[in-house]
Amino acid sequence: MELRRATPADAPVVATLEAACFAEPWSAASVRAELMAPVGRGWLAESGDITLGYLLGTLVVDEFTVARIASLPQYRRCGVGRALLQRALSAARDEGATAAFLEVRASNAAAIGLYAAHGFTVSRRRKGYYADGEDALDMRGDLP
Ligand SMILES: CC(C)(COP(=O)(O)OP(=O)(O)OC[C@H]1O[C@@H](n2cnc3c(N)ncnc32)[C@H](O)[C@@H]1OP(=O)(O)O)[C@@H](O)C(=O)NCCC(=O)NCCS
Repeated sequence: MELRRATPADAPVVATLEAACFAEPWSAASVRAELMAPVGRGWLAESGDITLGYLLGTLVVDEFTVARIASLPQYRRCGVGRALLQRALSAARDEGATAAFLEVRASNAAAIGLYAAHGFTVSRRRKGYYADGEDALDMRGDLP
């Protein structure tokens, strides 16, 4: 598995993974806009021609926010998510980030497990945050 920075040209493949991984996927246009923004940061995990997973985030001064992270269902629990998160956090730290933030559905045990394994803790529970009524958890991790 290789990791590399995503560029706006990667928007179509990221959108394909979005469709495979999320009930409300971002379009290629949305992904491209995220990757074109000066604060946008993206990473891809690849094996040969296969894109295994991706992470999209933003870096604003000293705060990194994880917007999306996903690995293809058939490659889960193989270390793809961990590799992406570690690389993105490390790169953000190198760019001056001191803390990382994200929000996650309260029922998303896989993502919460991944984030907790990287030192993220819940800072706030937002009741009924999502359109279907589910709570969101705000999580925060320090980047020492
Ligand atoms: C969350 C997600 C990205 C994890 O990706 P992954 O490639 O399977 O993650 P990894 O194999 O690197 O797992 C790393 C750690 O995360 C945790 N984890 C991953 N899947 C888990 C699960 N189903 N249950 C509990 N913990 C889990 C574990 O701590 C795991 O370490 P371990 O395998 O040594 O126990 C993946 O499940 C996914 O794409 N989900 C759909 C999209 C999504 O919900 N994204 C997050 C919200 S934006």
